[in-house]
Amino acid sequence: MERIRCDRTATWRGLQNLFATGGQTFDLRRAFADDEGRFEAFSQSAPHVFADLSKNLIDRPTQQLLFTLARQCGLEQHRDAMFAGTAINNTEQRAVLHWLLRSPAASADGPDALAGEHAQVHTVLGAMLAYAQSVRADDAITDIVNIGIGGSDLGPQMAVLALDAFVLPGKRFHFVSNVDGHELDAVLKRIQPENTLFLIASKTFTTIETMTNARSARDWFESNGGKDVGRHFAALTTNVAAAKAFGIRTTFGFWDWVGGRYSVWSAIGLPLAIAIGEQGFREFLAGAHAMDQHFRSAALEQNLPVRLALLDIWYRNFHRFTSRSIAPYHSALRRLPAYLQQLEMESNGKCVDAQGQALRFATAPVLWGEPGTNGQHAFFQMLHQGSDTVPVEFVAVRKPRHALPGHHELLLANVLAQAQALMVGQRDTGGHKNFPGNRPSTFLLLDELTPTTLGALIALQEQRVFVSGSLWGINSFDQWGVELGKVLAKDLQARLQTGDVSGLDGSTAGLLQRLR
Ligand code: F6P
Repeated sequence: MERIRCDRTATWRGLQNLFATGGQTFDLRRAFADDEGRFEAFSQSAPHVFADLSKNLIDRPTQQLLFTLARQCGLEQHRDAMFAGTAINNTEQRAVLHWLLRSPAASADGPDALAGEHAQVHTVLGAMLAYAQSVRADDAITDIVNIGIGGSDLGPQMAVLALDAFVLPGKRFHFVSNVDGHELDAVLKRIQPENTLFLIASKTFTTIETMTNARSARDWFESNGGKDVGRHFAALTTNVAAAKAFGIRTTFGFWDWVGGRYSVWSAIGLPLAIAIGEQGFREFLAGAHAMDQHFRSAALEQNLPVRLALLDIWYRNFHRFTSRSIAPYHSALRRLPAYLQQLEMESNGKCVDAQGQALRFATAPVLWGEPGTNGQHAFFQMLHQGSDTVPVEFVAVRKPRHALPGHHELLLANVLAQAQALMVGQRDTGGHKNFPGNRPSTFLLLDELTPTTLGALIALQEQRVFVSGSLWGINSFDQWGVELGKVLAKDLQARLQTGDVSGLDGSTAGLLQRLR
């Protein structure tokens, strides 16, 4: 498989020229005035998601050259290598198969070489869904506490909140991730041992935060009259032996070819499966699978993850925009920005390529955001009139799940108005009321927020991150950048006990002494 880094192609220079000779001064208002077909040309339907890309700072020749860039970089071959099970996570020598978790049992999506993995996926999925159904039917269990962090928290938490309208009444879901004891303590104050199921979610079963929280939860359970750890604790992990050693007898496994931030489709999704049931979870997988099929088979020109990622590259490497704001206009999607932060910034926040060579261009932008309309009354001032241009990604849902009159129309009017105001702007000679306009946004539209559409939306984002990482030439599937802090924390934990500051820098030593 031949991968060529984007900056080593001839097209990269062509894009630099395009940017210098018009890209930089592109004006959206003029583009719409000159091109009646702009909305159609720059919108894209994909399974369960419609995208309006027309309010972005891009014209047809630039888009065409970006498709050429993707082809020259070997994107299609790299994508096919992932779907063939090649060990594309080269620094850990692992295949990248989270997509296989959502491939239906009867489908022949994967190559024969992956038949064994596919069978294992469905064996665990069947067992996990049967367990989820038994928990749903167990009236004695009212509280489900997921203990996990990063990918073992953000995916299931985001999805359980997003699908609140589908959650079984009578079950409450709690997510404990932080090692800060305030978080676990607050949950423990609200639950009873005999009514609680703890799910210890950790791919490695070694993450210090999760292990500390899990031990404290078990101690609390036993010292508050809890009788049967075996019934009240389950583990979701690739490290079945460690879960057993912890005293857990119910374990749902997964595999090293599922990255933590890509693991909501695996046993890590158990809280969601309990919340929305077997059928709902299967629909969630099916929505994602439909997006995978689109990503695998649509020509680059009609491929939504590809089109989004090429825009990301255009913005990051040519316009040099440093961030992207995520604005979900649905309060149930309130953890989507946090989820996407891990997905994109842990995957593509790298400054070396897959061979360890330093990159001379920028990679992952900062992702941030809040649901609308709340964001409008906080940081949208800066989006409209601040000194930086921040592309905004709106996510809207056409049909609400409540019957309160007027609310949804008002919400939709607001999301439309924000996208419009960013682009159109407003002239004011006095200055203060001047809106420069020409500020880009993407509009992702779901018909309804359901397990199926959420699955498709998340898979869309995963594949988009794959595409930008692929063109940047990086390994999007490792995360060495989180390791150093873990090692130093261990050392400092011991020093906090002893007070030994020898060999530390002045600031760390000074702070440590103050903290003791
Ligand atoms: O430290 C980062 C990280 O490794 C993430 O990639 C991962 O999602 C998280 O920690 C949790 O890891 P685990 O599931 O192994 O506890």
